[in-house]
Amino acid sequence: MTLVRFISADGTRVVEAEAQPGERLLEIAQMHDQPLEGVCEGQMACSTCHVIVAERHAALLPRPSVEEEDMLDFAYGVSRHSRLACQLYAAADLPELEVRMPAGAVNMQSR
Ligand code: FES
Repeated sequence: MTLVRFISADGTRVVEAEAQPGERLLEIAQMHDQPLEGVCEGQMACSTCHVIVAERHAALLPRPSVEEEDMLDFAYGVSRHSRLACQLYAAADLPELEVRMPAGAVNMQSR
C-alpha cells in the first residue's frame, strides 16, 4: 500500500489517500477530487496531469521516459521534480508519495 498525500498549489489543503500497488496516480487523484484533468487519459499528449513530487520521494520513483520529459517541457510551472501523474504508479516498495498540485495547467491537446 502507498499512502499518497496531495498538497494543494497554495499548500493550504492536504488530502491523503491509500493506493494499492499498480494503481495509477492520475486515477487516485481524480477519485479524491484533485484538479488534474488528464485530458489525454495517459497518452502523454496533454500535460494536464502534471504534479510536483516531494523532493524526498522523487528519487524513489522510476526515472521519467524521454516522452514524459518532452511533455513536461510544456507543463505549467514545471520544476525539477515535476512528473506526469499518468505515468506514476503506487508500488509495494513505495510506502509514501507526496505530490503538490501546480498552480495552473496547460492542455497541449488544445494548441
Ligand atoms: Fe495527458 Fe498525462 S493525462 S499527459
